[in-house]
Amino acid sequence: MSENHAVPDRSTCLAIMDASDMLPHIRLHSLEVCRVAVALARRLNERGARYDIAEIEAAALLHDITKTRSLSTGENHSLSGCAAVAAHGYHGVADIIRQHVAPDSGGPDISAAEIVSYADKRVLHDRVVSLHERFAYLKNRYGKSPLDIERIDAAHQRTREIERRIALMLPGGFHVDFLDSPGGG
Ligand SMILES: [Fe+2]
Repeated sequence: MSENHAVPDRSTCLAIMDASDMLPHIRLHSLEVCRVAVALARRLNERGARYDIAEIEAAALLHDITKTRSLSTGENHSLSGCAAVAAHGYHGVADIIRQHVAPDSGGPDISAAEIVSYADKRVLHDRVVSLHERFAYLKNRYGKSPLDIERIDAAHQRTREIERRIALMLPGGFHVDFLDSPGGG
């Protein structure tokens, strides 16, 4: 494993989170996104994918590392979260964090960043919900202008497409334990 792809273990991530004054509900959200992302990546690995589980775990735990600060500064927390984690030397994890709101569109394979981004869109606060419910919340909370709403709708569409591609890899689609929700998928 190259130095560029050093990955912090779970306890290191938790220590970084503890040192960053995260709001408690954002910390809980991150723990649940991590649980979902890791469970999903494991499930996909059982179907022949080759995700680095430790990298996904770290990126999911740290994806909102600067979110609390962004609420007062207005900074782009994907970019500042990426910079904060890169400053620790975890460049691979940092790049996933950079993409957690809007993953780079890539090839046919589902990227690790798409897994983390998707998990983030299935967890409202600390609860697994449908994409529909999560995006309704995002629109209500952040859809302050037509441009904001357009951006959120585009993200919803993008995430639905990730979901469709994930479902193709899972024989049971989304009727699996860790993603079941009253609202469906
Ligand atoms: Fe975020």
